[in-house]
Amino acid sequence: MPYITTPTSNWENRRARRSTGTGITIRESRPVTRRRTCVIALPRSCRAAGSQPVHWPGSGPVDGSVGCRWSPARQGWTGTAVSPLRVSDRTGVAAQKRCCNGDQDEQGEDQQECHGSILGCTGLDNNGHFSQTGIMSVQQTHSTPSIRLSATSLVRRLGTEPLDGPGPAYRALAYRIRSAVLDGRLAVDSGLPSERELASGLSLSRTTVAAAYTLLREDGWIDSRRGSGSTLRLPAAATGSSRDLVRPQPVTGPAGIFGYPHLDPEEGIDLTTACLPGAEEPVLRALEAATAQLPRYLASDGYSPLGLPVLRAAIAARYTAAGLPTTADQILVTNGAQHAFSLCLQELSAPGDRVLMECPTYPVALDAVRAARRSPAPFGLEHRTDGGSPWDMELLATTLRQTAPRLAYLIPDFHNPTGALMSEADRRQLVAAARAAGTVLLIDESFREVGFAATDLPLPVAAFGDDSRVISLGSVSKAFWGGLRVGWVRAAPALIDRLAAARSRGDMSGPVLEQLIVAELLAAPDEALARQRERLAHRSAELLAAIADLAPDWRPTTPHGGATLWVQLPQPCSGELALLAPTVGLRLAPGPRFGPDGTLESFLRIPFTQSPERLREAVRRIVDLLPQAGNARRVGVSGFLA
Ligand SMILES: Cc1ncc(COP(=O)(O)O)c(C=O)c1O
Repeated sequence: MPYITTPTSNWENRRARRSTGTGITIRESRPVTRRRTCVIALPRSCRAAGSQPVHWPGSGPVDGSVGCRWSPARQGWTGTAVSPLRVSDRTGVAAQKRCCNGDQDEQGEDQQECHGSILGCTGLDNNGHFSQTGIMSVQQTHSTPSIRLSATSLVRRLGTEPLDGPGPAYRALAYRIRSAVLDGRLAVDSGLPSERELASGLSLSRTTVAAAYTLLREDGWIDSRRGSGSTLRLPAAATGSSRDLVRPQPVTGPAGIFGYPHLDPEEGIDLTTACLPGAEEPVLRALEAATAQLPRYLASDGYSPLGLPVLRAAIAARYTAAGLPTTADQILVTNGAQHAFSLCLQELSAPGDRVLMECPTYPVALDAVRAARRSPAPFGLEHRTDGGSPWDMELLATTLRQTAPRLAYLIPDFHNPTGALMSEADRRQLVAAARAAGTVLLIDESFREVGFAATDLPLPVAAFGDDSRVISLGSVSKAFWGGLRVGWVRAAPALIDRLAAARSRGDMSGPVLEQLIVAELLAAPDEALARQRERLAHRSAELLAAIADLAPDWRPTTPHGGATLWVQLPQPCSGELALLAPTVGLRLAPGPRFGPDGTLESFLRIPFTQSPERLREAVRRIVDLLPQAGNARRVGVSGFLA
């Protein structure tokens, strides 16, 4: 935990007080020099900003070793302090008390709780506890909700169907909330509305809602604290089972993309990757053309950390043709979209920072976020089988406002795994909400070129914001062939240069021949893209038909493009299914791999990248396996769902 302290006089400054309210806590009081001083802990989400001097309000730069800046959007300080400044404890106490009193006025809570609630709004760890007499003890606010759901948002997520059924209404309500957590519609750590608000939103009696909350609390699904309300949790028993499936399990054979062993295509059906096998004829023609050009490049040293100029220009031209004017200096060529994402993650955030991600999302992006010690903040998508939009924009805006994540990673173009497409109006709203929250958007456009009805493709998200706020990540893996390993970042030229400098820490440059192949393909992409789209559209229709025939009780999404279906199974057993799948020659990626918190047990992603015959056979095998997987449900989760 980094510390800063500040000169006494600054505590009298109004903005300094506000900064305390947004997460800086007075951590301890100890004599540093002859005067007593306080050390102030910066919130964990503060990011390293190394060389920038701190501009403490009213005082100008005070210490070049402290990298902090005032963020008007967050109304707080961001930065990492690396050496202490000083503050008098008396003025610090006064400032803290004023801050608490302000909060108390608003929320009517007592002073001790108000400190927690100040930090609660920021979603940050509370490392200090303050009272009239000074620092009390170190306290962790693990029950702090990441966002507070309004009654309207919660009711929208739960659905407005009457709570009828065999049991009492409070049980039905508790069951509905539990189910929404398990299928990812409600993110773990979200704060619930008060009993009174929810009762009014659902037109139920307050007693019914109170009884539902009590039941959930007893079963470990919510955690309640005076002053902070109730927060959604996963019960210990559930975490013991489904959370195991969130991360790839150790394997004995060679690791596949999801951490499970690869299956020999001759021996079984691998449903863990969302990329069409088999490069098409246009790719082979581009290879020939590129090979003919290669000798011109052999005279150089072969390094191009920004990418070959011809390819940068071709990618920029593609954006311009899509309605987003772009120049070559806004493009950095990478070794695929995953490389592009990891690079942006490393460069634009620091350990501990929040990264908002859809739930479900692309699991390898989740792995990268975890591995980089950033904190994935899930935003639940609605499960829509009618092709409607799964993004609740009002809730997304609220989540961004309340959590102010450093980054938000979204896949609005034929989302993996649902195949959904975000509308232009929603894109506009997304960018506005990100701007207000001070969040940088990382928009993964890996599937953008493989829509089934490409004529209606909305403008890229970056068309609605500036290039430092909206960063686009692209790839040709889905459009042409995964083996090309070519992707890119589109951003402001200054950021592109920074990313290119950063890439050399792990990778010097992309391969020349592959870049030339992609430049060839992008010069005349229509035939190759049409073939890919046609294959995917056909296989998607065949897979949906197989499900309708063989598994009519499954609830698949209706994809607008991309390469995957997201299927709700009749039972929450997708983890067990994935474990049993190799016994029948299948490889599956279970639902919990697509979210950060062990939920999504009722879901399975099925890519439609295999031949129609193999897809039908895969559905048949899964259907046969389901009773066994359902019976094998582990005690924890099944106990709560019975
Ligand atoms: C959404 C998404 N982003 C990124 C990737 C990785 O793409 P690449 O092969 O370009 O690294 C994938 C691959 O499945 C993906 O589905």
